[in-house]
Amino acid sequence: MATNNAPTGSDRRGFFRQGLACGVAGLAALAPAAVGLRVIFDPLRRQSATAASVKVTSLAALPADGIPRKFPVLADRVDAWNKFTNVPIGAVYLRRTKDDQVKALHVACPHAGCFVDFSPERGEFMCPCHNSSFSIEGRIATPGSPSPRDLDPLTVEVRPDGGVWVVFQDFQAGRPDRVPVT
Ligand code: FES
Repeated sequence: MATNNAPTGSDRRGFFRQGLACGVAGLAALAPAAVGLRVIFDPLRRQSATAASVKVTSLAALPADGIPRKFPVLADRVDAWNKFTNVPIGAVYLRRTKDDQVKALHVACPHAGCFVDFSPERGEFMCPCHNSSFSIEGRIATPGSPSPRDLDPLTVEVRPDGGVWVVFQDFQAGRPDRVPVT
């Protein structure tokens, strides 16, 4: 005798209800896992944040010709698992404006973070990524510049022993106001 095995309407509704329940349960299980991964990797994410007073060079190593020179910024870095000694955390341009006065600019372009180059011929900083340019003081030099703000100035201190110390800080790119990366 022939039997009719085609699913009925109530069979189909039951199937969809079961599928929906499985999907909701799966999402509920994934949420704590996602939070856990975020916590685990948080120290790595925090490695990009910087705010420290760092000795970059000495006054004797900085020519008094007013031309900006690029220096790496080295510091110790600690995360949840490791301590790294004297590793690069960024770079700055230093410019000696008077015998004992130094100005510092962050090398990162505020548009999207590419490192700018100083052109002695043009007397300007040029960004190789999208052609922003900045005066020697770090001010936007071109109308319609892709960069939404001037280069980021950093606090400099020349200590009695001639050490040049910079308060190094990263700032968020792509916005007109200066917001530290935390
Ligand atoms: S990153 Fe410098 S202009 Fe875009």
